[in-house]
Amino acid sequence: MSDRKARLSIDGCTQPIELAVHSPTLGPDVIDVGDLSGHGFFTHDPGFTSTSSCESKITYIDGDKGVLLHRGYPIEQLAAQCSYLEVAYLLLNGELPNAAQGAEFSSAISRHSMVTEWLRDFYNGFRYDAHPMAMLCGVVGALSSFYHDLLDIHDAEHQQITTHRLLSKMPTLAAIAYKHSIGQPALYPRNELDYTSNFLYMMYGTPCETYEVDPVVARAMDRIFILHADHEQNASTSTVRLAGSTGANPFTCIAAGVAALWGPSHGGANEAVIHMLEEIGDIKNVDSVVARAKDKDDPFRLMGFGHRVYKNFDPRATVMKQTCDEVLEALGVSDPSLEIAKRLEEIALEDDYFIEKKLYPNVDFYSGIILRAIGIPLNMFTVIFALGRTAGWLAHWNEMIAEGSKIGRPRQLYTGPAKRDVKPLGER
Ligand code: CMC
Repeated sequence: MSDRKARLSIDGCTQPIELAVHSPTLGPDVIDVGDLSGHGFFTHDPGFTSTSSCESKITYIDGDKGVLLHRGYPIEQLAAQCSYLEVAYLLLNGELPNAAQGAEFSSAISRHSMVTEWLRDFYNGFRYDAHPMAMLCGVVGALSSFYHDLLDIHDAEHQQITTHRLLSKMPTLAAIAYKHSIGQPALYPRNELDYTSNFLYMMYGTPCETYEVDPVVARAMDRIFILHADHEQNASTSTVRLAGSTGANPFTCIAAGVAALWGPSHGGANEAVIHMLEEIGDIKNVDSVVARAKDKDDPFRLMGFGHRVYKNFDPRATVMKQTCDEVLEALGVSDPSLEIAKRLEEIALEDDYFIEKKLYPNVDFYSGIILRAIGIPLNMFTVIFALGRTAGWLAHWNEMIAEGSKIGRPRQLYTGPAKRDVKPLGER
């Protein structure tokens, strides 16, 4: 916080309105407009392009420099040196775990990996072709119906056990959704496996033969989880916070986050990228697709390009691209989509339209190619994003509850009719 003040002069007001200016640890100063309503004014910022909605100590992004820090640590270092569970611990607790803390956390998380048989029965209510994100939204919210005696959001023990439950059960819920869609029996988790290997086992194993998790695949998936773990006040995290601000239980708040993530402008973009690359089909069609993306009269956008905050490269995309090359080489997979993706990136990065608008590949541009190489079906891509983002959603929910936030209740710029009287039916 600082002693600086901003003064807002408004035509017709005799005195300027004095507003506090807060200085964050990193990033631009923030003008606190909370007092404005007392002076009879609101701010108007659809899409929150210039608005900070909360105070947070979890994640920092410098969009101009392409920097992403979790609790101060650069994402590149976390992706290279840590496991997803260590990053989850960091997001939740503020520090990286030492060996003993990491082992204790991992054991605590693994103990909650099963879901009740009643919940497994829910899946039979979904058709075989239900989108796994639709199933995930439903079953995550439904978890709250089983734990009503542990839903006091102000009780630290309840908070912790619910946090562990959600982190632990997400892979199980996601894998059951996949198994349901292909008509295979859902497997029970094997807690001797690490978090990510357990997820892969539940995805690809069957009851009739032994399934060995490929360490190359496990490491790639773990890195994808890390790269998606948190991204400060993005749309789904803000949704979790808004739902949580009402006092709603965390299971339903995370279900709200899953719903918000599904949109193609957010987490759904990884699935949309592959659809786009398949539609392009051949390198020779790349130019015409770029031309469509630039055409103001065409709503088409290059999926996996652009970001609200990054106006330089997305550091997650850089790690993702490198991981993509490593995984494809290690697995001996050759994917023509990768060639199309690389050409698309080359052309777009040299094109004035993309340069002027500062549109660079984002995290979703390369993640789909890795996921496809390791055999994840297309409709599970956004589910994978949701699994990774669960750590961030939970960290933000816990931070918000600990800080005792007000209910989130934006105002509006009303442009509807002024007051008028209802006419009798015959006169309308
Ligand atoms: N292709 C072509 N033009 C684009 C694109 C794109 N992918 N993205 C933005 N633009 C143009 C847009 O038409 C606009 O032009 P103009 O100023 O002439 O109207 C300008 O760039 C600014 O776009 P905007 O929609 O105002 O920017 P935004 O910050 O509101 O949107 C975005 C950010 C990510 C929704 C957008 O870039 C987009 O739709 N990208 C494609 C979807 C995507 O890849 N989403 C994943 C985001 S990263 C993962 C995550 O956080 O979930």
